[in-house]
Amino acid sequence: MCGIVGYVGEKSALDILLEGLTNLEYRGYDSAGIAVNVKGKVELYKAEGKLQNLKNITNENREHISQSVIGIGHIRWATHGAPTTANAHPHSCNCGRVAIVHNGIIENYKELRVKLEKQGCVFRSQTDTETVAHLVASKYAETNDLTEAVRLATKEIEGAYALAVIHQDVKNTIVATRRNAPLLVGIGENEYYVASDVPAIIKYTKKAMYLDDNQIVTLTPSSMKLIDTDNNELSQKYEELPWEPVALSKMGYKHFMLKEIHEQPDVVRNVLAGKLRAIDENIILKEVKLDKDTLKNLNRIQIVACGTSLHAAMVGKYLIEDLCDIAVDVEPSSEYIYRKTVGDKNTLVIGVSQSGETADTITAIRQAKARGSHILIVTNRPDSTMAREADSLIPVSAGIEVSVAATKSYIAQVISFYLLAIHIAEIKESANKSELETIKRELILLPQKLEKVLSHKEEIQLCAKKFANSKDFIFIARGINFPTALEGALKLKEISYINATGYTAGELKHGPIAMLDESMPVLSILMKGKVYDKILSNSEEAKARNARMIALTDSDDSKLNELFEVVIRLPEINETLSPVLAIVPLQLLAYYIAEFLGKDVDQPRNLAKSVTVE
Ligand code: F6R
Repeated sequence: MCGIVGYVGEKSALDILLEGLTNLEYRGYDSAGIAVNVKGKVELYKAEGKLQNLKNITNENREHISQSVIGIGHIRWATHGAPTTANAHPHSCNCGRVAIVHNGIIENYKELRVKLEKQGCVFRSQTDTETVAHLVASKYAETNDLTEAVRLATKEIEGAYALAVIHQDVKNTIVATRRNAPLLVGIGENEYYVASDVPAIIKYTKKAMYLDDNQIVTLTPSSMKLIDTDNNELSQKYEELPWEPVALSKMGYKHFMLKEIHEQPDVVRNVLAGKLRAIDENIILKEVKLDKDTLKNLNRIQIVACGTSLHAAMVGKYLIEDLCDIAVDVEPSSEYIYRKTVGDKNTLVIGVSQSGETADTITAIRQAKARGSHILIVTNRPDSTMAREADSLIPVSAGIEVSVAATKSYIAQVISFYLLAIHIAEIKESANKSELETIKRELILLPQKLEKVLSHKEEIQLCAKKFANSKDFIFIARGINFPTALEGALKLKEISYINATGYTAGELKHGPIAMLDESMPVLSILMKGKVYDKILSNSEEAKARNARMIALTDSDDSKLNELFEVVIRLPEINETLSPVLAIVPLQLLAYYIAEFLGKDVDQPRNLAKSVTVE
């Protein structure tokens, strides 16, 4: 949450900062701001609300601001202090010479603020960040050295931070540092960039250096110096960024979410490429470093994740228990980290995360690692903190996901779990070969079936219009599609703000059925297989309470038209693979309802894509 960007070089900084912030907007959109240095004077421009408000302000002063060849910028997801202009970053000190942008939370900010106020610092915001601005200014007054000032400040601040700092008296210099929040440096010709994430800088450079915790970098147009917090100089390791700027375009779609939903057939192809080569060949997962002996000795698997990734993990549990005979627990990372969890070196801990930067999941895997467990990360960002701390890695290859509501990364994670479960089953010889071959055959056919689902989206659009004014929604399913019900409900909640809940269909009669009446839509995920008849009975029970019934099914039974007001039909699919197909109409349903209601689909209120605070 929150995104930071910085530039120092020979070009005008303004457009680089605004472009960077545009591409970081998925990290927060409560307010935005930049600091530049025009003719030797640090100037701040800030606006509450969407980035466009800042763009309007800077446009009024464009000619003036464009003179600056250095700048830092920030896009905010509010933690401490309301999303007002006063609380927008950059923050400064009494004399206005320092400007600072921050992603993270300074946990001891209250103590620091009291101390700094006693020294005469006057605070203008309610943020935790402003303490760092005053602290750096006071250290600079003692040392006359910006890098040293930042270094000394990091000794006093507690919590998580990625920081970029400029000072009026230190010409063309940015000092940046991080602890438990992502930060990278982009390297150009006589210029450097800093950013929370690759999209901010990919248009300008593909050469980058990821900062590790407690490293401090000092950048001028012609130099980069890297030190640790004990002032030891460190060697610099560069990487080639794997992305193309085109990934950040909507490619003609109205929203990134719709584009990303449509990319899913190709995402499945990409995830399978090189890993599933033929039905009669074993799955190849090179980055998974679990041999036969390790797998034989595993006493359990724990999967930690949040939100949509948690739902993908739940599908993973069904698959691994079914095919590999290993007990699997799935738990939200935010719960896992605040209780005593039982595990040791024979426990495999899997962290699932689109961004690889979710603070709760990072903490969970660090705790498990300290306990001696092998850490396997399933992430869409092989360059992320989680990936870099993993013992084993499954990069899910969905490509950059811009829409805050996750869609294609979910499918990619789920497909990765099929591959992992088959891979473990093949090593352990825990499943019937022909069963594994059936799943592999179905996996190969999946992209075509997904394309078929997407080609019937008008049907879902009509259904969305019909139900868009509902206040509540219930999704029911059983077995491997229970996570599909949860994920469908989450998609609807987050982008349309309609209260939606997923239940196992069997639980309906234990309480939720009391809510049913003619105003309540109940969507049954009715895929053919072991639990089809059971869900059908549960749907009858809901219908008997006058609920408005919608079916999502791969059955061609014409009798369903009597029970359900709307029947959304899917291509026939093996039950084990059905979650991949069933989620797509639910993503589309949420999308079309939100669009019909005029909601901000790609940037829903109160959310941010990368949740880097606990
Ligand atoms: C929902 C959504 C969130 C994320 C959650 C975890 O559409 O995007 O629920 O799934 O914040 O994020 P990652 O997967 O990056 O750890």
